Amino acid sequence: MSQPPVDATTTGAWGKLAGYAEGFQPDLRGWFGDDADRVDRMTFTAGELLVDLSKGLITPGILDALVSLADEVGLSERRDAMFRGERINVTENRAVLHTALRLPADATSMVDGRNVVEDVHAALEHMYSFASQVRSGEWKGVTGRRIRTVVNIGIGGSDLGPHMAYEALAPYRHGDLECRFISNIDPTDAALKLADLDPTTTLFIVSSKTFGTLETLTNARLCRAWLLDNLRARRMFHGTDEEAVARHFVAVSTAVDKVAEFGIDPANAFGFWDWVGGRYSVDSTIGTSLAIAIGHDRFAEFLGGMHLMDEHFRTTPIERNVPALMGLLNIWYVNFLDAGTHAVLPYSQLLHRFPAYLQQLTMESNGKSVRWDGSPVTSHTGEVYFGEPGTNGQHAFYQLIHQGTHLVPADFIAFANPAYPLKDGDTDVHELFLANFFAQTQALAFGKTPDEVRAEGTPEKMVAARVFPGNRPTTSIMAPSLTPSVLGQLIALYEHITFTQGVVWGIDSFDQWGVELGKQLAQQIIPAISGDAEASADQDASSRALISYYRQQRKQ
Ligand code: F6P
Repeated sequence: MSQPPVDATTTGAWGKLAGYAEGFQPDLRGWFGDDADRVDRMTFTAGELLVDLSKGLITPGILDALVSLADEVGLSERRDAMFRGERINVTENRAVLHTALRLPADATSMVDGRNVVEDVHAALEHMYSFASQVRSGEWKGVTGRRIRTVVNIGIGGSDLGPHMAYEALAPYRHGDLECRFISNIDPTDAALKLADLDPTTTLFIVSSKTFGTLETLTNARLCRAWLLDNLRARRMFHGTDEEAVARHFVAVSTAVDKVAEFGIDPANAFGFWDWVGGRYSVDSTIGTSLAIAIGHDRFAEFLGGMHLMDEHFRTTPIERNVPALMGLLNIWYVNFLDAGTHAVLPYSQLLHRFPAYLQQLTMESNGKSVRWDGSPVTSHTGEVYFGEPGTNGQHAFYQLIHQGTHLVPADFIAFANPAYPLKDGDTDVHELFLANFFAQTQALAFGKTPDEVRAEGTPEKMVAARVFPGNRPTTSIMAPSLTPSVLGQLIALYEHITFTQGVVWGIDSFDQWGVELGKQLAQQIIPAISGDAEASADQDASSRALISYYRQQRKQ
């Protein structure tokens, strides 16, 4: 039975932090000027990541109080309970063991008296063996041709993780295989992604933890029909539907019985377990498309990177524990400085799907109003995450971060080595790129005073508009290169940041009941939009009017 959460707002540390917040006057210029050791004291390492918190709106006293808060709410105890496989996903009565997915084969992790590490490695071996058959061309389509395109059909955690990682690890991909990702039930998604594909060389992976998600099953049926229709239209195949599906469809799921019902041979199904949350599943067999793209060794390095960060989180004292500190810092921003958003700004085009991935990880995990014992939360919870790669974001929304009225804490991520070193004449373009990374955090922290603006010869009436207030908090995260291991470290870092915040707020970061109502209503509304008058009458006035507009405008 899970301990009831400690109400963080009743702790001594919370009171102390509230004291710091009262009349808080951040002064990064002054803090840097007065404290020569600030950067050293506030820069930490975890695995290959260097994390500089010194441009955050924190003083050593605030940091100490945040560490005490972690102690008072029992962060380490909850973390240890998670690693031990206790059922800390209280509302679903499940263990939370995504960390077991990246344990080495000789480790032990017990769930209900069973060492799940053995199951994990058996599932990984199954996936690796399939991936290597596809990569080598040994796995053939029904007409005997090798696979050239892998289409992952999945949504949420069954799409965002593999898709993000596929993009991020582009330099490591197999040169003759492409992966595509169909997620949206908007038929446009399937139509566009399938349009130029050859059915004889296309393999579909239906990825769904539950194998009950409307979007995924609908898209899977669309793709099956597309495959069969196009194979027959080309007169390249005269066998049965089952034979074609067996060579062109595999599945990833925890529900093997439903996979069989769909018509996919359970021998071609890759399993995982209910103790892996959808948004924590990229490192399970949900990553099959990624394993095909980057191969066994790279996928193992990816898992190794996650494990490195897990070990850091599990064993490092909170005062040097990077995910814990970053999560606690977010608590300071959300609960004491009223930040409602959080920007993630990777200076890496390869990470262009990383903010979208983190939106599910953080917002589906911590967007809650009740605690794990069912009582209401006692403070604000999860932030709105958003982001874009630099420098694109600089030309879109950074204006608000620099000069707007909202506080937007931002994580800046960069790599010393480019994936593709290119030169513009004598200029190393990566250096030009990174100059922006360094410049932005500098500008956000230290701003530009009215006197500095005047010193540039700015006419007085324009001065105010050109002042940068500074004291906009950023965390800089750097690593040598974006390798599979470093990507794994980054993902696990954010998983544990999310966990830390959830513990302080006392919430179950592993359920997602908030997405259920919309799913149920969509099912009820289908008859109304198809013209059933009775079903339409059951709708509210606004929905009735919108459905009526739809029916008038719909041409066929
Ligand atoms: O949107 C809710 C959700 O359950 C996510 O948590 C999950 O990642 C997604 O749907 C997809 O679920 P499944 O993998 O079961 O199809």
